[in-house]
Amino acid sequence: MIIGRSAKRLAVATGVWLGTAVAGQASDEDRGEKLFSQCKNCHEVGEGARNKVGPHLDGIMGRVAGTIEGFKYSKAMRAAGEGGLVWSPETLAEYLEKPRGFIKGNRMSYRGMNDAADRTALVSWLAKASASAPGEDITPEIASLDSPATSFADIVLAMEGDPDYGEYLAGECVTCHQSSGHADGIPSIVGLPRDYFIRALFEYKTNVRSNEVMKLRVNNLVNDEIAALAAYFSQLEPQ
Ligand code: HEC
Ligand code: HEC
Repeated sequence: MIIGRSAKRLAVATGVWLGTAVAGQASDEDRGEKLFSQCKNCHEVGEGARNKVGPHLDGIMGRVAGTIEGFKYSKAMRAAGEGGLVWSPETLAEYLEKPRGFIKGNRMSYRGMNDAADRTALVSWLAKASASAPGEDITPEIASLDSPATSFADIVLAMEGDPDYGEYLAGECVTCHQSSGHADGIPSIVGLPRDYFIRALFEYKTNVRSNEVMKLRVNNLVNDEIAALAAYFSQLEPQ
């Protein structure tokens, strides 16, 4: 698996992970717990878990990579999170198969878990063990949301976008969406409420909306950019 954008894409494309998180069977769970002994030297999980060599893993499912406060992550891990990498059973299984390959330059010294069944068992055990307390998960409500787009959008809603940067980025958008706010077949995005705007973009990212033209555009946008664009367009007055 190559890194960077493809890892991020994968994260945003995993719309259906809540189902797999609860699919583990009892024997699988015992196996998962045993396998976690490979992680224990560095990671704690469960209520009151603290950071050790690695960040605590409470609330790991639905957590944006590299975001536990007070833990010193590598630049690579923080960049992966900023690019939209969210931990789900799928992204986690892929990371654990070959940590160095999945995020180049991350500093977790763990060689990887070759056996796919082992990875599934560990990840489904971890999904349960980590859910006992939300920890510092910034999307604690994720399990109760129906649309994957909503949880991603919430992350960006909590960010402060820079409208000047948004104006600069908007050059890419106003070739189709006229800045005057006139529609001409393409919906006007001038003056759209910020939260609607952000949700709409994540609905393209997560395939809730299927327009190919917009999907292509938003796949290249990272969270910072989405926040900036929303800040810019929402403050414009339609003419
Ligand atoms: C030798 C110590 C060590 C071992 C063993 C280890 N990890 Fe890690 N892990 C780390 C460190 C350090 C980081 C932070 C990496 C970075 O910042 O680049 C990390 C990061 C992570 C993250 C990302 C967390 C976040 O907040 O984004 C997950 C998930 C994770 N490890 C799971 C596991 C699992 C599951 C195992 C066992 C199969 C494991 N790790 C084994 C040290 C370890
Ligand atoms: C090549 C033309 C094109 C470009 C460039 C483009 N868009 Fe779009 N956009 C569309 C079309 C067509 C739709 C309607 C798609 C649909 O039916 O879902 C749309 C829909 C949207 C919507 C949803 C509007 C609503 O009312 O729900 C938003 C928000 C949006 N675009 C934002 C952007 C932003 C931000 C950019 C620049 C990064 C951008 N678009 C670039 C063509 C474009």
